[in-house]
Amino acid sequence: FNTLDNLNPAGKRILLRADLNVPVKDGKITDFNRIERIVPTIRELSDKGGRVIIISHFDRPKGKVVPAMSLQPIAEALATKLGKPVSFAHDCIGPDAEAAAMSLKDGEVLVLENTRFYPGEEANAPDLATALAKLGDVYVNDAFSAAHRAHASTTGVADHLPAFAGRLMQAELTALDTALENPDHPVGAIIGGAKISTKLTLLENLLEKVDVLIVGGAMANTFLAAKGYNVGKSLKEEDMLDTARQIMEKAKARNCELVLPVDVVLTQDFIAGAPTTVAGVADIPDGWMALDVGPETVTLLKEKLSTLKTLVWNGPLGVFELPPFDIGTTTIALEAARLTKAGTLKTIAGGGDTVSALRHAGVLHDMTYVSTAGGAFLEWMEGKILPGLTALSRTLERTIPI
Ligand code: 3PG
Repeated sequence: FNTLDNLNPAGKRILLRADLNVPVKDGKITDFNRIERIVPTIRELSDKGGRVIIISHFDRPKGKVVPAMSLQPIAEALATKLGKPVSFAHDCIGPDAEAAAMSLKDGEVLVLENTRFYPGEEANAPDLATALAKLGDVYVNDAFSAAHRAHASTTGVADHLPAFAGRLMQAELTALDTALENPDHPVGAIIGGAKISTKLTLLENLLEKVDVLIVGGAMANTFLAAKGYNVGKSLKEEDMLDTARQIMEKAKARNCELVLPVDVVLTQDFIAGAPTTVAGVADIPDGWMALDVGPETVTLLKEKLSTLKTLVWNGPLGVFELPPFDIGTTTIALEAARLTKAGTLKTIAGGGDTVSALRHAGVLHDMTYVSTAGGAFLEWMEGKILPGLTALSRTLERTIPI
């Protein structure tokens, strides 16, 4: 890709695709990570005299103007993090947006309204891409977390302007490359979450690439059931048992060690404060459900981690939101952080739940890299081609004077 190293932003109108799709509850931003992580790119462009015009989607307004999904409050939060004023235009195309973009001075920053207020955004409509492109001299895509969407602001617009990858995009791609494309072996992956069905492609792609595949979360119950264990009333996918068996066979054929829990923490009721017990996976009683990995599994996983040079982590090992079922995930997160800090392990983590789990464990900033992406991180790990990246590389094939 072209990066900011190949761009002199001075005096140019830079159409910057950021991902300002941050979690908001009761009108308040609950996680500023994506805002904070875009700041270095904006600062670099603005410090060098670029006129920064930020476009982004927010939430899923489905092509309609939904005032509660305005980017205005997020633009205000960005101004605070950036430590300088950020202006806002109530449209992302048309006369108001154009006037705001044209009146920007060198170094100034403008945020435009939610691109998803137009149905053409998700449809990747050529007229929307053209109208967006009109606002800038160059296009910088720094929204890796939206690169799995083939939308007007992530792909269409790149065909009309010289296109560059921003610093966050670059960092994400470098980290993912370190994790799976050119990793130091042995490589391990921790994959947690509720369902095999949503992570099937991911598991299949990973067992081609990693040496150790650790499966946790409710997904592990389906694997245990496929091996013939009684998992009591634990969450499991009855219709995925054959698939689980096939994955285990494929892993064996590929020489990928698939690691499942050897013991679990159980409860009878899925409520805070309910009595718990620990049992080996061969001894799960009827009427009990597994909500976390047990202490023997934690010891086993720590041993596995100590043999690895690279770890990719997506998905918690248990129901970390409901203590004490956070112990497995938290203990392993602390161990990954310790090894990472000691320099023996590179840990690359991603996905919404994973980020919350690492934050809960207090080690979000002790990983080698934590992706800002949810869906895009998963799709990338599944081996899929991300349209936002394809659009950026297409620009290299065209010769547009910068
Ligand atoms: C995300 O949060 O994963 C991205 O911003 C994409 O959002 P979407 O799933 O609504 O397309």
